[in-house]
Amino acid sequence: MTDWKPKITTFLCNWCSYGAADLAGVSRFQYPSNIRVIRVPCSGKVDAMHVVKAFEKGADGVYVAGCLEGDCHFKNGNTKAARMVAYVRRYMDEIGIEPERLEMVTMSAGMGYRFAQVATEITDKIRRMGPSPIHAAIETGKAA
Ligand code: FES
Repeated sequence: MTDWKPKITTFLCNWCSYGAADLAGVSRFQYPSNIRVIRVPCSGKVDAMHVVKAFEKGADGVYVAGCLEGDCHFKNGNTKAARMVAYVRRYMDEIGIEPERLEMVTMSAGMGYRFAQVATEITDKIRRMGPSPIHAAIETGKAA
């Protein structure tokens, strides 16, 4: 299990976290290469079905990264995303999937270091948790 690399899907807001990812790359901050980025116009555009699909398509962990509180270009997309993430986490817990596999984070476009740090921390956490049970359920036909 030590060389197993989790698949992480992240939804990045175009105005903040995507800029932070770009800055992390330009600044050559190290972060894991297993992060699959989906760029969205605002974190508030990510809904529960997007998250569920990401898990169904093979993600072991998912995180939504929006603008800092009060900085959303669409007023409150980041708080809407945070509520959606909290809702899906409760649902995951009810059906026996670790809610820690899903997170909401915020950052500004100038936080390249934070982007790299979050990507590394979430990857490490998911690596310790192991593969998502959703894959096994789908493969054995136990998923609805
Ligand atoms: Fe970034 Fe809404 S524009 S979270």
